Amino acid sequence: MAKLAVITLAAVASAYAAKSFFPDLSPFFLSLPLLVLLPFALFSGSGSYTPPGPVSFPIFGNWLQVGNDLNHRNLVDMAKKYGNVFLLRLGARNLVVVSDPKLATEVLHTQGVEFGSRPRNVVWDIFTDNGKDMVFTEYGDHWRKMRRIMTLPFFTNKVVQQYREMWEEEMDMVVRDLRGDRVAQTEGVVVRRRLQLMLYNVMYRMMFDARFESISDPLFQQATRFNSERSRLAQSFEYNYGDFIPILRPFLKGYLNKCRDLQSRRLAFFNDNYVEKRRKLMAARDGKRLRCAMDYILEAEMNGEISSDNVIYIVENINVAAIETTLWSMEWAIAELVNHPNAQQRLRKELWDVLGDEPLTETNLQRLPYLQAVAKETLRLHSPIPLLVPHMNLEEAKLGGYDIPKRTKVIVNAWWLGNNPEWWHKPEEFRPERFLDEEKEVEAVVGGKVDFRFLPFGVGRRSCPGIILALPLLSLIVGKLVKDLEMVPPPGVDKIDVTEKGGQFSLQIANHSTIAFHPIAP
Ligand code: HEM
Repeated sequence: MAKLAVITLAAVASAYAAKSFFPDLSPFFLSLPLLVLLPFALFSGSGSYTPPGPVSFPIFGNWLQVGNDLNHRNLVDMAKKYGNVFLLRLGARNLVVVSDPKLATEVLHTQGVEFGSRPRNVVWDIFTDNGKDMVFTEYGDHWRKMRRIMTLPFFTNKVVQQYREMWEEEMDMVVRDLRGDRVAQTEGVVVRRRLQLMLYNVMYRMMFDARFESISDPLFQQATRFNSERSRLAQSFEYNYGDFIPILRPFLKGYLNKCRDLQSRRLAFFNDNYVEKRRKLMAARDGKRLRCAMDYILEAEMNGEISSDNVIYIVENINVAAIETTLWSMEWAIAELVNHPNAQQRLRKELWDVLGDEPLTETNLQRLPYLQAVAKETLRLHSPIPLLVPHMNLEEAKLGGYDIPKRTKVIVNAWWLGNNPEWWHKPEEFRPERFLDEEKEVEAVVGGKVDFRFLPFGVGRRSCPGIILALPLLSLIVGKLVKDLEMVPPPGVDKIDVTEKGGQFSLQIANHSTIAFHPIAP
């Protein structure tokens, strides 16, 4: 009824405006807005009981009211107005936003199958070739097969044990480089670049048995350029209007062509420099002696389980899902430890008390509760994927008593679950202690007890399989840096800038931090 009233008012207001500009307009033209809007008001929703949300208009839906920038904080403001589950009609797309742990349990766990698909938009269609990958594919046989094939070479404890020494070696090199770098000790350095090299080496050694010599290695420069541009184009909000409103799509032509062009050059880069090389090695060895993840993936291709397109999209997914997210979390952790010297000091004390001269390794992470608390607190306050990767229901479904139209994009605002003052004490503070005191039951471990307020990796069928790598990688590098180096702001700076930059579902530090590193004796 309220909707009918608002739409009638809108129609009357437009007729009134038209009359004042064109006093001679015939009554037929004056009544046009009402004729167009009334059927919509009467028949939209077609009897179903959809979640609350702002009144929507034909063609544009709520886009005129909410705009393009649907970041996690804007969605919190809307949740305060419309409730813990609300619906936005964004042109041709429906978006439901969930901001409550119980409803999150429904979407991710209880109705994990119903909401286990992924929506794509016009840009993600291009970057995944309509779902030939794993991350953006619908729930079903293809997803199951891709997830199974990727699990063995990437996501098991055996893989962690196989590679942990290599991780430690790459990280020790970072610490050695910073300890020997005079600029890092005086003016400070943008640490992201060195960490990026480390993470590319970790992931490319696991994936292809290949590594980059230095930041100036031309292949490293190309790989990072391709991936950053891919992230920028996919995560931007600026193309939303053309995705939501089909009649505006022609205006996106240039943007979409840019995406297509980048993607074809990027995939050719992965294929020519890495995949083909492993394919030749596999052929020469007759498929025996599998050495790295790609060998297992190519074996699945040779067995006819997946196509060569699927192979390249696994490479694409790892480049995006594994490297960037983990790098963002490292940048956030370092920035917060610099801004909270007491936390940094407490962590250093724990590391020296527990380990003494022993090096920090993956095997002794369990003995370092404060280090684990620092990792959790970083992921709570600055979840790299604050809205999870969007979910979707293939068929009409029920959620919180409401009808959810089929193929609705369903977003769980995981950042808000971890930062709502109703559920957390002073959530805006970076205070790792909370995970040793009042929140000591909250786990962030593979197979741990799930607390639906804390979901930086999601949970359930579509949860992050990379958690088994990401948590030790984050804890190890932070621990190694803090044990051997005092991290401080560069001269003349009081606090590191922790302004956020949100994307379609990403959360990064807006300005990559410059940090000074003072070696700790010996
Ligand atoms: C700090 C680092 C990371 C964070 C915060 C993170 C977070 C997430 C989140 C929130 C999701 C979506 C969950 C959902 O939609 O319910 C996801 C999915 C995924 N992540 Fe991660 N991730 C990280 C690192 C990694 C790593 C290191 C890898 C691989 C080596 C990885 C591979 C994936 C894949 C393949 C998916 C898609 C799963 C599917 O759709 O079935 N992630 N991640």
